Amino acid sequence: MNFEQQYDEYRRAVETYLNGLFVARTAWADLYESMRYSLLAGGKRIRPVLTLAFARLGEPDWPKALPVACALELVHTYSLIHDDLPCMDNDDFRRGRPANHKAYGETLAVLAGDALQAEAFRLIADAPGLDAETRIACVRILSDACGAAGMVAGQVLDTLHAPQTPDELQTVHRLKTGAMIAGCCRSGAAVAGTPGLLSVAEAYGYQLGLAFQIRDDVLDVTADADEFGKPVGSDKESGKVTYVDLFGVEKCNELVRTCTEEAIASLAAYDTDGFLSALARSLSERRH
Ligand code: IPE
Ligand code: IPE
Ligand code: MG
Ligand code: MG
Ligand code: MG
Repeated sequence: MNFEQQYDEYRRAVETYLNGLFVARTAWADLYESMRYSLLAGGKRIRPVLTLAFARLGEPDWPKALPVACALELVHTYSLIHDDLPCMDNDDFRRGRPANHKAYGETLAVLAGDALQAEAFRLIADAPGLDAETRIACVRILSDACGAAGMVAGQVLDTLHAPQTPDELQTVHRLKTGAMIAGCCRSGAAVAGTPGLLSVAEAYGYQLGLAFQIRDDVLDVTADADEFGKPVGSDKESGKVTYVDLFGVEKCNELVRTCTEEAIASLAAYDTDGFLSALARSLSERRH
């Protein structure tokens, strides 16, 4: 199986799993509808793919990791819904369609995000194929990744602290984006249970996360909005200083390449089939 086929296999498993969620008939059908609206809007699914790929390094029955992988995608989706709100980045477009608050209003957008976050932890707690110790380890990894010293801290710095210097921006990138991406890799490693893999996952995930957010800042300036699936020029409009302001596009592209190569180097002999190296390289050149 080549890289594209393997990615597609993971992605299809994720879509099928996500599509089965929040389908019960309730008196609050509008909540489920708005959660599914954002969840099934066709994101790239790189976070759950990372979890599945790391899990597979030690667990041939990798679909066992699907509840954990999809839990991280639920939290990621909640973070995007809240990130687009008028009180945050105030963006009207996401994943190629109107942002959740544009389709359902701000109240339901806030609540859909809240519910996605809580339901994520339920998916891990209930994961049928995993023993209790692994489920607890994954709960801990996800709460570290998205909590008050993780993604949310990064969002606070990004929206309220006006970061300016390279060091300040790197801290924001590591927290708002790197923490979740590293968490995806670490939770896959927890399912794999392979000795030594957790620290490899951490190192790879942080470098990949940094490269991913610098690339996002570049695309915010250079992308085609239709292909990007979200507004171009959003950072400038919010008055944010980004890596592009500090270093320019050329130097940012070079930084993305350097972080990507560091991510790959940290995998050493663990990336037996080359999937995680190919994934890092493909993300460094992504256009959306
Ligand atoms: C967007 O993440 C938010 C950032 C951290 C830059 P993605 O680019 O992975 O968004 P989706 O999930 O594919 O929509
Ligand atoms: C996203 O950063 C970080 C999150 C935790 C959601 P951005 O604000 O740059 O992401 P986009 O560009 O809106 O996807
Ligand atoms: Mg933001
Ligand atoms: Mg944003
Ligand atoms: Mg952005």
